[in-house]
Amino acid sequence: MAKQFWKGSALLAPVPAALVTCGNMEKCNVLTIGWTGIVCTRPPMTYISVRPERYSHDIIKDSGEFVINLTTSAMVRETDFCGVKSGRDMDKLEKCGFHIEPAANVSVPIITECPVSLECRVSEVKPLGSHTMFLAEIVGVDVDERYIDSKGKLNLQQCGLAAYAHGEYFALGRKLGDFGFSVRKKKKHRPADKGVR
Ligand SMILES: Cc1cc2nc3c(=O)[nH]c(=O)nc-3n(C[C@H](O)[C@H](O)[C@H](O)COP(=O)(O)O)c2cc1C
Repeated sequence: MAKQFWKGSALLAPVPAALVTCGNMEKCNVLTIGWTGIVCTRPPMTYISVRPERYSHDIIKDSGEFVINLTTSAMVRETDFCGVKSGRDMDKLEKCGFHIEPAANVSVPIITECPVSLECRVSEVKPLGSHTMFLAEIVGVDVDERYIDSKGKLNLQQCGLAAYAHGEYFALGRKLGDFGFSVRKKKKHRPADKGVR
C-alpha cells in the first residue's frame, strides 16, 4: 500500500483528554490535557506537557502538584470547554457545574464527577520547546466506588470512557479482549460439565 511521508508531528492517537486540576480548595483551576501518559509502573509515574502561556502552567510549576481527572463521554462538552477557555477569565469549574473535593495526598482538589483521579506530585520540570513537561509521581488514586465490583475489580468500561484522536473526540467502543488474551489457553471442555461420563 502506498504511504505518504509527512514531517514529524504529534500524531499519536488515541490519547486521553483529561481534566487536570491545579491550585487548591480555595482557588482551583482546570484545563484539558491531551499530552499525558504513564511512564513508569514502580514508582507509578506520569507526565503532563503544558504550554508556558497557559494560566495553569505557573500554578502547577509553583505548587508542584496537579490532579489528572479522567473524563467520560457524558462530560465531553465540558472537557472541550475547559480546553478552549482560560481560568484567567472565568471559573471554569463553576461554569461546567463541576464539584471539587479534597484529595488525600495533595492540596489540589479532585473533580467529584470524574470516575478516577490521579493525585500527582511533580518531580521534574523539563522545558521541551512549545511545552513544559511536568514529570510526576502518582501519590494517590481516587476511584468512584460505583465502578468497583464486589471482588474489588475496577470496571472502567462502565463509566463510558472517551478518547481524543487527531482533533476529534470519540466514545470507546466494545471490548475486544483483555491483557494476555492472545496467548491464554482456552478452558478445556469437560464432558462432566454436561453430565456425560
Ligand atoms: C482536547 C484538548 C487537549 C489539550 N491538550 C493540551 C495539552 O496537552 N497541553 C496544553 O498546554 N494545552 C492543551 N490544551 C489546551 C488547553 O486546555 C487550553 O489552552 C486551556 O484553555 C488552558 O486553560 P488555562 O488557561 O485555564 O490553564 C488542550 C485542549 C483540548 C481541547
